Amino acid sequence: MRKPIIGGNWKMNRGAPAEAKEMLEKLIPLVKDIENVDVVVCPPFTALTASIEFVKGTNVKIGAQNMYFEDTGAFTGEISPLFLRAIECEYVILGHSERRNIFKESDDLINKKLKKALSIGLKPIVAIGEHLEERESGKTKDVIQRQMDETFKDISKEEILKIVIAYEPIWAIGTGKTATPEQAEEIHAFIRELLTQRYDKETADLIRIQYGGSIKPSNANDLLKQKNIDGGLVGGASLQANSLSEVINAASKSVQ
Ligand code: PGA
Repeated sequence: MRKPIIGGNWKMNRGAPAEAKEMLEKLIPLVKDIENVDVVVCPPFTALTASIEFVKGTNVKIGAQNMYFEDTGAFTGEISPLFLRAIECEYVILGHSERRNIFKESDDLINKKLKKALSIGLKPIVAIGEHLEERESGKTKDVIQRQMDETFKDISKEEILKIVIAYEPIWAIGTGKTATPEQAEEIHAFIRELLTQRYDKETADLIRIQYGGSIKPSNANDLLKQKNIDGGLVGGASLQANSLSEVINAASKSVQ
């Protein structure tokens, strides 16, 4: 059975070290007894060091929300993966739809970042997902297939096993519109099928696929109990320790 993974993506909302500590101080006691779920919180870069120090010795892990693919150099405003490793950051979100859409990141760029993250031992959470118009015109699976092909280009079987995939329909992110459990499960099963074709069934069965897009306590149980949904990437609801812990509890229940 796959161990669910819940990621809290704070986006650009809580970036001061003191704010991060306050949040984590509330979250840690709420989830301390949960052993069957991986819990990852992803603050902005400015709060990473403080957060990493603060969660030491707890079951909460820390991830970055982005990185560049070069080690060092003239890349003003970018963050090197080596810097993330140096502060003992464990995870990194790559290819979030906000990176793809607002900052025009291509599948090719995300693929480069992914290879780099893997090469230095950062654990990538890679997001994919379709726009509303793509869904409404029946192109969801084509879009997902293209993103899978290009984002995971030349990723070996050994490497794909280290990746968490986040299916995040863009129309459901921050909009309050959630995919129904059936809509989400259909695409999760499709992603697993693509992984089976590309690698093999045994490999595909081991890869964790999170759902993201307005996941919250009121819908988490129904989403997380779907066969191919192995956790969630939580935006808005991760900004309150209580609601994030309720989603984590739902993930825990889904595998009991
Ligand atoms: P949301 O964000 O939960 O606020 O929809 C999810 C995400 O962007 O990862």
